[in-house]
Amino acid sequence: MDHPDSTGPALLMLLDLAHQAALHAYAPYSSFRVGAALRLTNGETVTGANVENASYGLTICAERSALVRAVSQFGPEIRIEAVAISNRNQASCPPCGACLQMLAEFIQRDAPVIFLSGDGERVLPFRELFPLAFALGAEQ
Ligand code: THU
Repeated sequence: MDHPDSTGPALLMLLDLAHQAALHAYAPYSSFRVGAALRLTNGETVTGANVENASYGLTICAERSALVRAVSQFGPEIRIEAVAISNRNQASCPPCGACLQMLAEFIQRDAPVIFLSGDGERVLPFRELFPLAFALGAEQ
């Protein structure tokens, strides 16, 4: 696996998958089309896109869309070892707080998270984006 902070070819390929996944976004309200790709420790990669709703608050982000798909497809034991997030609006897009909290249940703390930033991309280990996830116990 790539070093958490390096932008290796595998991570750039994951970002490309996220970029492709954004084409499937349903975003008639914001026109902000987001895609996410999760690389799992079982070798599988799962993508997702944001799906909006006329009742705005029901919208699901691309990251959570990919996450629920991964659990539904491969079961509750999945572990995420890398995350990529892209969008079709050339905008910087680190994952939102709600998605970080959801990812925290299934992700390795040092998993690299790659996302568009400025003119390029940025990679941060999950623990730096979200150092203290809420949990129903003292497992931090
Ligand atoms: N969105 C995501 O898909 N991921 C994020 O991390 C933040 C925002 C979506 C939700 C909504 O459909 C659109 O971007 C604008 O907020």
